[in-house]
Order: sequence, then C-alpha cells, then structure tokens
Amino acid sequence: MPEKTPFPDRLAILRAEFVRFYGAPPELAVRAPGRVNLIGEHTDYNDGYVLPIAIDRSVLVASAARRDQTVRLWAVDFDAHVTFSLDDIDHVQVQRWSNYQRGVAVVLKERGFDLPGVDVAFSSDVPIAAGLSSSAAIEVATAVTWQTLVGFALSRPELALLCQRAENSFVGVNCGIMDQFISALGCQNAALLIDCRSLAYRPVSLPEGVVVVVMDTMKQRGLADSAYNTRRAECEEGVRLLGAHLPEITALRDVSVAQFERYADGLPPHVLRRCRHVITENQRVLDGVDALERGDAAAFGRLMDASHRSLRDDYEVSCAELDAMVEAAWAAPGVIGARMTGGGFGGCAVALVEERLTSVFSQQVGRAYEQSTGLTPSLYVTVAEAGADVVHQMLKGQTARRSW
Ligand code: GLA
Repeated sequence: MPEKTPFPDRLAILRAEFVRFYGAPPELAVRAPGRVNLIGEHTDYNDGYVLPIAIDRSVLVASAARRDQTVRLWAVDFDAHVTFSLDDIDHVQVQRWSNYQRGVAVVLKERGFDLPGVDVAFSSDVPIAAGLSSSAAIEVATAVTWQTLVGFALSRPELALLCQRAENSFVGVNCGIMDQFISALGCQNAALLIDCRSLAYRPVSLPEGVVVVVMDTMKQRGLADSAYNTRRAECEEGVRLLGAHLPEITALRDVSVAQFERYADGLPPHVLRRCRHVITENQRVLDGVDALERGDAAAFGRLMDASHRSLRDDYEVSCAELDAMVEAAWAAPGVIGARMTGGGFGGCAVALVEERLTSVFSQQVGRAYEQSTGLTPSLYVTVAEAGADVVHQMLKGQTARRSW
C-alpha cells in the first residue's frame, strides 16, 4: 500500500481543509477504522463466529453542528460535495458515496433521535473496494459523529446494528454485522471473537513475535454483491433442507460438523458445499481461538490455510488473483498461515508472519504475485487498533481531549 500519512498529519490536513471549505473550524473529529478478518468468513450472516481486527487505516470525519436541518458533506479525497436536508432524505444515483451518510441519518431518525444538520469534511486511508470495509467505517464514523454532537445514549453494539441496517435497507447491500461491529468495537493489540448471534464478544491476543500482513491484490471486487446475495440464499436453502432432519435449527450456526456429515447426502451438491464451508468455518474459528489462547500460532496458521481452501473450493468466492496471492504467501519464508479475507472476488488476502522475516516474506510474495498475475500488489504490516473514537472535541466549555 502507498506510504501511510501519520495520523496527526491526516488530522491537521483535514482540519485545514474544513476551515478552507466552511470558513470556521470543526468542533469535532471522529476516527473509525477499517478491518481485516483473520478467520470466520461468510459466517456472520449465518449467526456464526468471526475473528477480525480493526486496522490502523481509518475514516476521519470532521464536523460542526448546524442550527437547521441541512447536511453538507465534503469528500476531501475526491473533492466532491453534496447537500441534503434531514427532512427529506433520498437514496441517490449520482454522488452515490453519500448514501452511507444518508442511510445512517435515516436509521438514527427512525430510532427516534432528533438530529441537527451538520457540516462535514471527511477523508480515508482505507482503500476503497479492497475488502477492508471502508463503507462500514464511514457509517460508524458518521453515527458516532451525530451521537457525540447530540449526546444521545446508544451502546456500541446497538450503534453497529443501526449502521448495518443503514447498509442493508438504505444502501442496499445485504451484509452481515461483522464489519460495522469491529469498526465500532475493535480492540487495541487484539482480535475480537464475535458471536454474531448473541453479539457477545471478547478480545483474543495474538502471539508475540507474529505480525499481520495485509496483501492487496489490487483487483477490485467485481460481481461481489450479486454473488453475495446468491450465497446467502443458498445457506438459507441449506437450513431449510437440513431442518427436515434437525427441526430445532434456525441457522447453519446450529449444525455441528458431525450432524452435517450425517445428513449432507440429501443436499443438492452446490448447497452441500456452501453448507460445508460455513459449518466447518465456524468450527475453525472456535479451534483457532483455542490455538491462539494456548499460544499455538502454527495451529492457527493451519486453520487459516484450510479456511482459504474451503472458501476457494466449497464456497467459491475466491478468484485467480486471491489464489495467486495466497499461494505466493504459502511458499514464502516466515509464513504461519494465509487466506483471502472479506467477501471475496478480489480485494485483500491476509497472512500471519514471523515478525523477524517480514521483509523477506513481503519481497518474495510481491515478486511471485507480480510474476503470476502481472499486477503489482500492495503489502503492508498492520496492527490491531481500537474501534471508533472521538479524536477532537471543542464543545462549548470543554477543552480539546487531544490537540490537533
Ligand atoms: C462482507 C460483509 C460481511 C461478511 C463478509 C464475509 O465483508 O460485509 O458482513 O459477510 O463479507 O465474511
């Protein structure tokens, strides 16, 4: 990935841009991170388990409340702006990027919160369409902005659920809860085990001497939304068919590997493969957490590798570029485990790597990937960051919590 601008510099640039555009300083700045998922893919909408980290790439939103119902948004990175009224929020086909903020406003209002208009300038260093959840980060940063300006009570899990609803019902993408949840609740220096049914969660530390490497294929996700919805429908079909033997199940999460093996034969072949991925992946997350908690990085790595094979062969959401990247990682010195991450069909893969071999790993993977695909990838070491937070606040009578 391109050289990262240090966080204080990003904040200072955004503040200056806000002043230039709106003629007065912002009163608030909010950071919400992107994410990379270590294991547990396509399990969230099956009520299952996931193990993502919030990464050190984020969306930054600077804002000032207004006295009317006007929302002005300025996307600093692509120099685009838009104005709309909170009294009449439409889904738009031009300036589509603003549908995230519009959707968040709609769900917060539906929830009964009285929102003020707001002037916003935002920027992001989460690459777009790379499978690192830049859209969830925008939603979460927007919701935290309004929450802080108004001061209403809303727990972070509830906030994440509202942002997911904005994406499902307003933006029109039928995603699960993982991306919004980790952006809102991420944990510094740890992954988060999330039970996507109960929304119970807990931090899981990564072993010493091991780093997380994000490997961007530079192939943007194509066809992802329609395939995503097809996979969801196939999982529902699996629940319906397996329910003939197991009437108590309401999601694939409820089916153990042993039960699946007993009843799999009656399923149409493609439904069988989709179900096998989800059911074994849930087990891999739980086994992976056990492995990490007993300090067995190698066992965790083997589960990551198995997750990739399952996503490639059974769930069929990988692509030539993701496979080339993961195979390059599997062959490189220092690798502990590697897999595609996120929805699939492009975007990023992730590897766990021995810290002392990070540069030789990255060089070898970069070279091998470029040779087999002709694309120049972007590899970068990330660290687990905290979830969304207020990074600057100058409300009346208060001093800044952190200086610009
Ligand atoms: C996308 C969705 C998530 C999750 C992943 C696959 O990132 O937004 O909810 O389903 O795909 O694990």
